Amino acid sequence: MSQGEKEKAEVSYVGYANLPNQVFRKAVKRGFQFSLMVVGQSGLGKSTLINSLFMTDLYEDCVYSPSPQRMPRTTEIKESTVSVEEGGVRLELTLIDTPGFGDIVDNSQCWRPIVDYIDSKYEKYLNDESRVNRGYTEDYRIHCCLYFIPPNGHGLRQIDIEFMKQLHNKTNIVPVIAKADTFTPEEVVRFKKVVLQDIADNGIKIYQFPDAQLDEEDDAANQKLREAIPFAVVGSNTILEVNQKKVRGRQYPWGVAEVENADHCDFTTLRNMIIRTHMQDLKDITNNVHYENYRCTKLANVSSVTGSATDKIAPSRDPLAQFEVEKKEHEKKMRRMEEEMEDVFEVKVREKLQKLEDIKHDLNRRKEAMTRTIEQLERDLNESKRQFDEDKRQYDIEQQKYMEQVESQMRQQAPA
Ligand code: GTP
Repeated sequence: MSQGEKEKAEVSYVGYANLPNQVFRKAVKRGFQFSLMVVGQSGLGKSTLINSLFMTDLYEDCVYSPSPQRMPRTTEIKESTVSVEEGGVRLELTLIDTPGFGDIVDNSQCWRPIVDYIDSKYEKYLNDESRVNRGYTEDYRIHCCLYFIPPNGHGLRQIDIEFMKQLHNKTNIVPVIAKADTFTPEEVVRFKKVVLQDIADNGIKIYQFPDAQLDEEDDAANQKLREAIPFAVVGSNTILEVNQKKVRGRQYPWGVAEVENADHCDFTTLRNMIIRTHMQDLKDITNNVHYENYRCTKLANVSSVTGSATDKIAPSRDPLAQFEVEKKEHEKKMRRMEEEMEDVFEVKVREKLQKLEDIKHDLNRRKEAMTRTIEQLERDLNESKRQFDEDKRQYDIEQQKYMEQVESQMRQQAPA
């Protein structure tokens, strides 16, 4: 560059090219927050995996050791926050272990505590964000949920489908096949296909790797990740020695299933995806899609509750529009009242008709009883009359006989 060109460049240099550095410095100074949750049926190795995922000992009674250690059973949602630093960048990592489901008879609402937990984090964020005096908002929202699929070889069970459907609009679901060491490599490939098919058939929305259209390298990496999903993982808290190297793995009579060996399982691919390549994308989708969904639903609910009141007091409203709204409100109210009155009237008419029906029924009953009594009296009277006629006839006969006797006696006594 000639002297003239240099001077020209210096004059035209404003300094905004330094902006990315400012953003970078600020972000590094503040640090990063990320929350990962594990969900799935009981005993699939969730606690074991998160204990090994970030090389931290979340479970103090289960530090890495040469011999297998027993993981405590997770009975409630357990949050563990660890602060890790690498190359001057601080990351506050929150790992959420959830109790496994499927042990009890009724699993119909087993996702409820998890969904409520995720919502509670959004709620807290929304409250913090809406404060009058808001500074930096701590982000404890759930950015990623590893959903553990049991290695049954057949595909997703109904409970897994339902569970994922309850979660897919709340958080980024990354499906993982648990205990992949129970499969042969061919079986893993087949099972992955079956699971992906089930996911598609049931309209489950899992985390989608972004299209990095501008960067071919990223695109290739994303394509590789897309092919690996659902990640088949192996978890272990045991350190073993293989070829004079210490590795995490599971010892079997026929060899060792190494956790961090890409030929044995997708553990490292999953870890790299979460930490190295897609952490920011997971956070962005949480913020832009899932949190936005939550926020919109929440605010829509609030405005529908307070809507009419706000309409009345909103000072900046156009008076004509305000009048229209009030008119509509009034008409709605009148219609509601009319409907209520009609309902009341209908009930009253029904009551009256019922009363009349009862009276009619009672009268009929009484009429029938009286008819029966009259008929009986008539019968009795007829019987008495018949008896009387009979008595009279007998009397007449006897009278006749007597008169004849008297006449015959008189004839005999009279002088010839
Ligand atoms: P809950 O707390 O009941 O929800 O169980 P969990 O899903 O957290 O399982 P946990 O990590 O407690 O592991 C259960 C058992 O599975 C333990 O004995 C683990 O050693 C074993 N396990 C964990 N990961 C694997 C794996 O990848 N393969 C095999 N074969 N076993 C594993």
